[in-house]
Amino acid sequence: MESLPPAGPEPDLKTRALWIKAREIWDRCDDQRAFRAFVPADYEEVYQALARLKGRLATVLEWGSGLGVVTIMASNLGFEAYGIEHEPQLVEWSRKLAKEFGPRAQFVTGSFIPREYEWNPRTADESFRSDVDAEPAYDGLDMELRDFDLVYAFPWPDEQPLCRDILRQCGRKNTLFLTYDAREGCLLRRVSDRD
Ligand SMILES: C[S@@+](CC[C@H](N)C(=O)[O-])C[C@H]1O[C@@H](n2cnc3c(N)ncnc32)[C@H](O)[C@@H]1O
Repeated sequence: MESLPPAGPEPDLKTRALWIKAREIWDRCDDQRAFRAFVPADYEEVYQALARLKGRLATVLEWGSGLGVVTIMASNLGFEAYGIEHEPQLVEWSRKLAKEFGPRAQFVTGSFIPREYEWNPRTADESFRSDVDAEPAYDGLDMELRDFDLVYAFPWPDEQPLCRDILRQCGRKNTLFLTYDAREGCLLRRVSDRD
């Protein structure tokens, strides 16, 4: 497990305004089909984790980027930041938010599971809430998973092994994996770390 350096800077007013706007959209649209697998992370906590990584890496990819808030925050912190989300309506919202709060953030519709990923019977599970059938999004980014220095995700607890297996197979050995979990908060690992 990697350790995060001590506290980062306070989020600025623009970042806080982004959180408020995203919260308003979620409150308004929560009952819509596109939002069925969307739950926002604790943005303040993820912001602090990303801010502490400034200067250590360049490219950040958010898996299942929802309303795009984490990708936009990463972009505004100076990372080259991309979000992959399989719900087109959420990608539309992300692009709208990016236009107002962080125009360098880039979003693409599709799945974060790469085409070349070979399903592992130990991590496969029919009860996954993540979409396992959508078209992979990497062609749309013209990038591969191994091009990213850090992948961020807020997976359901039983999907953590799948996420880590994808990174082990298709990422680089030194790819960092930042996760948010409602109980544990943010955790930072290297792909090569043991479970
Ligand atoms: C728990 S939400 C996390 C949202 C955001 N990353 C955050 O931390 O606030 C998970 C998101 O992943 C999306 N998702 C699920 N399976 C996916 C897949 N295979 N590819 C891309 N996005 C997916 C869902 O639609 C949802 O928006």
